[in-house]
Amino acid sequence: MNITAIKADITTLDVDAIVNAANTSLLGGGGVDGAIHRAAGPELLKACRTLGGCPTGDAKLTEGFKLPARYVIHTVGPVWHGGTRGEAELLASCYQRSLALAASVGARSVAFPSISTGIYRYPIEEAARIAVSTVSEVLKQDTTVETVTFCCFSSKDLAVYEACVSQLGR
Ligand code: AR6
Repeated sequence: MNITAIKADITTLDVDAIVNAANTSLLGGGGVDGAIHRAAGPELLKACRTLGGCPTGDAKLTEGFKLPARYVIHTVGPVWHGGTRGEAELLASCYQRSLALAASVGARSVAFPSISTGIYRYPIEEAARIAVSTVSEVLKQDTTVETVTFCCFSSKDLAVYEACVSQLGR
């Protein structure tokens, strides 16, 4: 099992699949979603148009087009409403559904952004704890995925994820 956290622009990573923190329309947006669409090129939006959107907590797959990554897994995290609207379960589901899709195409390496902690305002400490514990549980099961990278966009976020990763196996 290989789980690491790095600070990087997820669009530059040469992995089998990167995960996009999208919205239910799957038709693009700001944040990491905007960056992925810009880097992948207009073919990505064309592919997304055929998917019919995606419910919160679920995920859908496209090719990576101009990205180094072969696939993009588009998942929709919950908007933070204080934690009483099933946010934790929905966030965990994003990681589970994304890894299930990755395994369905035989992906061995997957990179995640910090889903929901930007525009959707999920508190980073809580989101990172859910992200790391959910991924580590999935990787203990039968899957093609061998390595998962948490791709953070700031040093502050990286420190939070590194703290969670270092707790694994204790
Ligand atoms: N590489 C890695 N991480 C990034 C990058 C990048 N290039 N750019 C931003 N981040 P957000 P959300 C980080 O807001 O909270 C979109 O409009 C960012 O610093 O992208 O799930 C969608 O269409 C933060 O840590 O996603 C939805 O409408 C993390 O990615 C909505 O935003 C997630 O922030 C989804 O909001």
